Amino acid sequence: MHSLIVVSHPLPESLTAAVARQIGAGLAQAGHSFEIADLAAEGFDPRFSANDVAVHLRQAQVDPMVAAEQARIGRADALVLVYPVYWWSFPALLKGWIDRVFINGWAYEEMPDGRVVRKLGHLPIHLVAIGGADLRTYARHGYFGAMRTQIDHGIFGYCGAPVRRSELLVPGEARGAAEMLEAGARIGRAIFAPPTSAQAV
Ligand SMILES: Cc1cc2nc3c(=O)[nH]c(=O)nc-3n(C[C@H](O)[C@H](O)[C@H](O)COP(=O)(O)O)c2cc1C
Repeated sequence: MHSLIVVSHPLPESLTAAVARQIGAGLAQAGHSFEIADLAAEGFDPRFSANDVAVHLRQAQVDPMVAAEQARIGRADALVLVYPVYWWSFPALLKGWIDRVFINGWAYEEMPDGRVVRKLGHLPIHLVAIGGADLRTYARHGYFGAMRTQIDHGIFGYCGAPVRRSELLVPGEARGAAEMLEAGARIGRAIFAPPTSAQAV
C-alpha cells in the first residue's frame, strides 16, 4: 500500500518535518511505500487565484500545479497530513493547498439540483497536528474539538473522505521530542493495520 505524507512546515529540521519522516519510517517498517510532499520545499503556491475561482465555477482548466497534486493523491491509498498548529488550526500553506486542490469536480461535485456528491470516499485520511501549548489549554478552550469540527468534519467529511486518525501531539510531562518522534513511527506502522490496533496508537 502507498501513502502520501503531506508536511507543511518551512524548516526541514523542525519537529513537524521529523515526525513526518518518522511516519514514513514506520510505514516502511510495516512494508508499505510512501512519498513525502514537503509543500514548503516544493514551493507550492497556496494563493487562491482568479483562475482558481474560474475553475471552481467550472469555467477554466485546472492549474498544472494543482493537477499534479491531485494526481499524486490519486496514486495514494492513504493521505497523511502532518502540520504544526498555527492559531489553533492549519498553517496557511496547508489551508491554501486544501483550497486549491480539493476543488469542485474533483473532491466533491455541486450538482445543478443543489445536491453535493462526495467524491473521496476511497481515500482514508490521517491527521497529525503538532502543537506547542499543553493539553490543559486545549481542553480549557475546546480548541482541539474546534479543529476536529472544522478540519475532520468540515473539510474531509464534506468530501466523503473517512478520517481514520486525528491526533494532536503536544509536549507534556511524559512527552518530549523523542516521545513525539516515537509516536510518529507508531502512527506510520499502524496506518494500514487493522482498525483495532490502529486505534491503540
Ligand atoms: C505562527 C505560529 C502560531 C502558532 N500557534 C499555535 C497555536 O495556536 N497553538 C499551539 O499549540 N501552538 C502554536 N504554535 C506553536 C507551534 O505549533 C509549534 O512551534 C510547533 O508545532 C512545534 O515545533 P516545530 O515548529 O519545530 O515543528 C504556533 C507557532 C507559530 C510559529
